[in-house]
Amino acid sequence: MNDSLGREGPKRLSAFREVIWDHFLKHGREMPWRATSDPYHIVVSEFMLQQTQVSRVMQKFGPFLERFPDWSALASARLVEVLAQWQGLGYNRRAKFLHQCAHTVLERHNGALPADPNLLEGLPGIGRNTAGAVCAFAFNLPVVFIETNIRRVFLHFFFSDVDGVHDRELMPLIAAALDRDEPRRWYWALMDYGAMLKLHIANPNRRSVHYNRQSRFEGSRRQIRGALVRMFSDGDSRTLDRIQADLGGLHDDRLAGILDELVVEGFLLRSGERYAPA
Ligand code: ADE
Repeated sequence: MNDSLGREGPKRLSAFREVIWDHFLKHGREMPWRATSDPYHIVVSEFMLQQTQVSRVMQKFGPFLERFPDWSALASARLVEVLAQWQGLGYNRRAKFLHQCAHTVLERHNGALPADPNLLEGLPGIGRNTAGAVCAFAFNLPVVFIETNIRRVFLHFFFSDVDGVHDRELMPLIAAALDRDEPRRWYWALMDYGAMLKLHIANPNRRSVHYNRQSRFEGSRRQIRGALVRMFSDGDSRTLDRIQADLGGLHDDRLAGILDELVVEGFLLRSGERYAPA
């Protein structure tokens, strides 16, 4: 278990897992590349998702696979055709790498993508984190990797008051939190939580040295946290409905996320739909 969390580590990690799974069960996103474990499809999706938002990739993924249904079809196409299909995704270098990758998989691995992050890393366009993502999503392997949404989740829950956090510090936590029984779904769940945070949580620039104004958002978020901590000091447990009522009928999208945070931080316990002081 992770030392940096101290004696409370195991409890915090299991509360964290519960929050992430709970969100996934309610709000997990369906995406075409989540309905397959075909390694070729997974590699194509991960290349597309490296720098392009999900909604855009959704439009391009199907047509790309129709035109290039497997490694051979991709390798035997001319680069200009691949680039034409890539139109709209941006960062064309990725299309070029993907094309080269198809050649390498055929020549070096007989058309069978190896289920090993060390072998995947170093294929054209595949770095350590894409290798990890491919192993998790195509082969359901319990590899440890980070990407932007995963990073956001761990910063949010475990480094909320710290600036300048290095991925080096996050990796042991990602490893400790990993659900080794179902890494594929676990990473989907983390990514979905991270995407939700991006929509609902304050300006990420607040971690910047140039940012010194307290945003209105952060102010009110802190107010809600304070109000919740005070509310639960009476020792009662409550459902979300009751909490909203006790906050004077507050209907705020951030409330569920703030409650999750308090659970992971050990202020509250959660059992099904009820929250109670820890
Ligand atoms: N599901 C599988 N891979 C993903 C990614 N890179 N981003 C978002 N959702 C994903």
